Amino acid sequence: MSIKPYSILVASQKGGVGKTTVALNLAVALASHKYTVLLVDSDIESASISEHLGIRSDGKGYLDAVNGKVDIKDTMFAYGPLELYIIPGTPSKGEAAPDPEDLQKFFSALKHVDFDFVLVDGQPGIFSSNIAKYFDDVAIITTPDAVSAMDSASTAEYCEKYRLEHRLIINKTGYSQYDLSRDEIEKLYGDVAFQIIPDDKMVAESVLKRKPAYLIDRGSYFSLAIDELARAYALKVEEPGSGVGPVGERESKPGFFEKLGRWFFASK
Ligand SMILES: Nc1ncnc2c1ncn2[C@@H]1O[C@H](COP(=O)(O)OP(=O)(O)O)[C@@H](O)[C@H]1O
Ligand SMILES: [Mg+2]
Repeated sequence: MSIKPYSILVASQKGGVGKTTVALNLAVALASHKYTVLLVDSDIESASISEHLGIRSDGKGYLDAVNGKVDIKDTMFAYGPLELYIIPGTPSKGEAAPDPEDLQKFFSALKHVDFDFVLVDGQPGIFSSNIAKYFDDVAIITTPDAVSAMDSASTAEYCEKYRLEHRLIINKTGYSQYDLSRDEIEKLYGDVAFQIIPDDKMVAESVLKRKPAYLIDRGSYFSLAIDELARAYALKVEEPGSGVGPVGERESKPGFFEKLGRWFFASK
């Protein structure tokens, strides 16, 4: 599999943990660092990238591309002066879910688009390994509470089982006294790459302003964390061979999930 485009599936078990926020701002950060980026809104339950940007997408979008009714290129629009293109979501109006074969065709086609990065804002819930195999990395978004952490741990186990590169993104940290501490997070996720992103009022402001938080203030704690994440991904492109492993099922390695479970139940 060629390293370009480097494709990232932004995933989480639960909704509302920050998938869209992270996907959008990471896309903007990578594009600000002069990479060409395609951002795809694949969440048909709550397609929201257009909303975050205050763009009414009456045009063609994700489902049209998946159904093969419209050429992928004709569903993209350019965002701002950056080399960022977006395939907006098309919220389902009760139609049947996309055909699994169409989905595979679409995601395999995304592996051949002429961009440095492809970021897909995923639907909540576990993804099929038939889809995940078209990605170089799964960014598992979680919040620092024990319930979300358990969910993300099972997603990480799933990734391990299918040998999918993955990293954990612990979003909205520092908000509650019940958050896992950095130490606890390091102990729990020690063997999996992770990135901490603070809860930052910049994000709420950005939703109101319909502008990505990264573009409002690149010096905010939120933007600095997004930049760290962008740098980690940029290294994957700059140093080919530093990441993509073979895909295939293997024995699930016990450890990570158990470790988390032990911590969770021991603290009861
Ligand atoms: N780091 C953050 N700091 C503050 N608010 C955040 C942060 N990340 C996400 N949010 C807010 O949390 C809510 C859910 O985020 P969203 O990205 O839509 O989640 P998802 O796509 O997983 O459903 C939104 O109101 C968003 O503005
Ligand atoms: Mg979302």
